[in-house]
Amino acid sequence: MTSANERETVFTYGAPALKYGPGSSDEIGYDLLGYGARRVLVITDPRVAATGWPARIAEGIAGYGLEVEVFDDVHVEPTDVSMQKAVDFARGSGPWDAFVAVGGGSSIDTAKAANLLTSNEGELMDYVNAPVGGGRAPALPLKPLVAVPTTTGTGSESTTVCVLDVLSLRVKSGISHLRLRPTLAVVDPRLTVSQPAGVTAASGMDILCHAAESYTAKPYTEFDRKRPEERVPYCGANPLADMFAEQSLRLLSWALPAAVANGEDMRAREAMALAATFAGLGFGNAGVHIPHANAYPIAGQVRDFHPAGYPDEESMVPHGMAVSLTAPAAFRFTYEAAPKRHEHVARLLAPDLEWPGDAAEHLPVVLMNLMREIGIPNGIGAAGFRESDVDELVQGTLKQQRLLATAPREASEEDLAKILRDSVELW
Ligand SMILES: [Fe+2]
Repeated sequence: MTSANERETVFTYGAPALKYGPGSSDEIGYDLLGYGARRVLVITDPRVAATGWPARIAEGIAGYGLEVEVFDDVHVEPTDVSMQKAVDFARGSGPWDAFVAVGGGSSIDTAKAANLLTSNEGELMDYVNAPVGGGRAPALPLKPLVAVPTTTGTGSESTTVCVLDVLSLRVKSGISHLRLRPTLAVVDPRLTVSQPAGVTAASGMDILCHAAESYTAKPYTEFDRKRPEERVPYCGANPLADMFAEQSLRLLSWALPAAVANGEDMRAREAMALAATFAGLGFGNAGVHIPHANAYPIAGQVRDFHPAGYPDEESMVPHGMAVSLTAPAAFRFTYEAAPKRHEHVARLLAPDLEWPGDAAEHLPVVLMNLMREIGIPNGIGAAGFRESDVDELVQGTLKQQRLLATAPREASEEDLAKILRDSVELW
């Protein structure tokens, strides 16, 4: 038996099966047969559908004798309303033996929700994390889900979470449970070539923050000891997740600027796909913290911002961009909790930089240099926020308690307000 204040001694690691490499997406039908599937629903969004890859993947699956249908109406940065559409389609046309998500985090997360709600009773909001939703855990196992990322970044192919905007509450939240993790991730770098430079830059910063936040997360040994039934997918920084984060950062140091500068650079695209996979395998177990917590209200409270490379019909701050905009200030704040780890992240990203004297500035400076180079806006001000918006943003960040709990240094309301104020204009 353990007493209340005993420290944690156990970390956990979970990951999907993985197929990586050019050509891997041609074999999905074979993999699905192995799972005993007969009827398969492919889930994607209209822009990804227009690249022809989902149709090609569906044909490949049909070629193995399976029945396959394509749902191509996923909303980029999904909402409770858009996910409900996919759930209704899947419930109305089911039963399905397996799901294949082709796209960015939006498609993969929507497929997780469709899988959850066709395998289990209840409604979407029942399962959304408390206090936003009911925080219910799925009682039954889900069907096999094959995740095929076309946007390098989200790591959704590796994780147990599904992120959505709850429109009525103007808040981004999620569903988090071990059963949501895809069965198989198929990472085919050929699918990422059509990604515009703006999308590569934003999703690249998402990968980078996954790696940097999980590497600087509160170590698993600093949490209170959990009972087996209390274990969560994100257990804090641990040796296995560290290894993946470090390798991801090494790859990003050269591949991110190269892939933004030239989308046809296959060596850079393949390195980015690997970096995204590594980061996902790391943060999918360690967790992320303040920059991701801030990203939720930044994306949710956007007024009028239309970034290059994304559909222009609606206002949005893409997830990876939203994450990166407060990262320099957030890492300046968390530095004192783990100085060596912050300095190590900076060195992995910029091995040759002339360092400023103050070591707490190393990582913020490296991040800002990179963001400027790849065309990320100069702070949340450039994405349409003013200092007068900071209070409402802080309230949104405070709703992300699951993420804030992984921060290496406890952030008060005032600390978060300062991080957001310092992020209005970065350079
Ligand atoms: Fe992310």
